[in-house]
Amino acid sequence: MNKIALILGSGARVGQAVTTKFLSAGYKVATVSRSAKTTPSDRDDLVHISADLSDPKAVEPVFDVVQQKWGSPPLVVIYNAAQNQPITPNPLTASIDQFTSALNINTVSSYTAASIAYSRNNKVTFIYTGNALSSDTIVPNLTVLGVGKSASSHWVQTAAASTELRPATFYYCDQRDLQGGPCYTGLNGQAHADLYLKLAEQEEQGEPLVVFRAPLEK
Ligand SMILES: NC(=O)c1ccc[n+]([C@@H]2O[C@H](COP(=O)([O-])OP(=O)(O)OC[C@H]3O[C@@H](n4cnc5c(N)ncnc54)[C@H](OP(=O)(O)O)[C@@H]3O)[C@@H](O)[C@H]2O)c1
Repeated sequence: MNKIALILGSGARVGQAVTTKFLSAGYKVATVSRSAKTTPSDRDDLVHISADLSDPKAVEPVFDVVQQKWGSPPLVVIYNAAQNQPITPNPLTASIDQFTSALNINTVSSYTAASIAYSRNNKVTFIYTGNALSSDTIVPNLTVLGVGKSASSHWVQTAAASTELRPATFYYCDQRDLQGGPCYTGLNGQAHADLYLKLAEQEEQGEPLVVFRAPLEK
């Protein structure tokens, strides 16, 4: 089967570093974001697909495009999109639309992607880019982001605990700064790329919550 990595929510930092890493490891890579990015037209192993993950129904057509292009479903799916909608003046003032949209991007579309990915390839590795908000880090103005990350951390752990889903594997990854604190900004793209390739190439399901320290990027 083709080695294909699908990156849902690919931008300049994690998406770019992961793309470069997986291409160099022999994967074909499909990136997804709302923008219509240009990719080098002479590469057959790289494609960009425009989709808005605030609509969970947009997820399945992405898998269809990948499969039509390369004839196989992804072996690795990385869910890196997020909606960080700061809520002020207090955590209960998000509008229904803001809350729903953020929950769709941070949780419903990721769950949908995992469900589709597994139904098409039971060997898939699914990696979710998380943060510390799913743990005991409480930041009132990041309520909707924290709700989504916590919910995703939960479904990832249930999938990882379900032996009937093997050989598929599921991970929620949370970069911390070098002191172990939440990083908020300055995410290290290369550290994510190195970790994600390692998880992708590891056959057994490991500990699903991967908290790792890396220097913050400027
Ligand atoms: N460990 C931590 O403490 C920590 C800190 C910061 C961030 N993070 C996590 O890291 C991830 C993002 O990191 P990054 O640095 O790679 O961000 P990034 O460079 O901004 O890339 C994320 C990409 O997702 C795309 N995206 C956003 N909303 C989308 C949507 N509705 N549909 C499709 N694509 C969408 C954006 O492209 P378009 O605008 O073109 O759609 C963007 O380029 C998030 O999951 C975030 O929560 C973790």
